[in-house]
Amino acid sequence: MQVTLKVFRYNPETDKKPHYATYHLEAEPTDRVLDLLEHVKGYIDGTLSFRRSCAHGVCGSDAMRINGRNYLACKVLVKDLGRKITVAPILGLRVIKDMIVDMEPFFENYRSVLPYFINNDLPPNQERLQSIEERERYDDTTKCILCACCTTSCPSFWANDKYVGPASIVTAHRFIFDSRDQAGAERLQILNDQFGVYRCHTIFNCTEACPRDIQVTQAIGEVKKAIATGKIE
Ligand code: FES
Repeated sequence: MQVTLKVFRYNPETDKKPHYATYHLEAEPTDRVLDLLEHVKGYIDGTLSFRRSCAHGVCGSDAMRINGRNYLACKVLVKDLGRKITVAPILGLRVIKDMIVDMEPFFENYRSVLPYFINNDLPPNQERLQSIEERERYDDTTKCILCACCTTSCPSFWANDKYVGPASIVTAHRFIFDSRDQAGAERLQILNDQFGVYRCHTIFNCTEACPRDIQVTQAIGEVKKAIATGKIE
């Protein structure tokens, strides 16, 4: 099928302002948007810049705005988008070049929620065991790949990138509700800050954008409830 691909192009070092370049391509319906971008880069214009690594929806590096909503370019098929496809960088982060944005504010927020397992007891001789129910409690939020699709679809983050954002709250949730972790109360205190969970206005963009189908808004709600009740359960 014939596809018209419009791609955001911007090199701050040489361009006064961004523009869209249009490419007319022959594609298979089962091609992914990443395949189209690879074709442009490989055969038409090698200066086109975008991040990708695994090409299988695992590394989280190729989040982009495709026809107006956030996707991983390696997971969305041409047949699900139609013959006109527009690709642009995710919103709320500074564009470095084309689809490459500065992820540092995103990762600064991520680091602020202590995104690692904390338990100061001496390690046992074997594994720290959990019941099936204890493991299930935070199963959904273990699926996050830090692609930033959720955070960069959130109007509260667009308004202020100091808002910790959905992805960081999802990560905090993964540890707060882990029965083996001991820093849940500390993380709740961090998220009770002026740039914490209460910047979330339950808009649900994050849940819609998540390529891993994580119930992001629900996880944020559970963290809010733990702060309000003082109970992690
Ligand atoms: S390239 Fe790794 S998630 Fe798409």
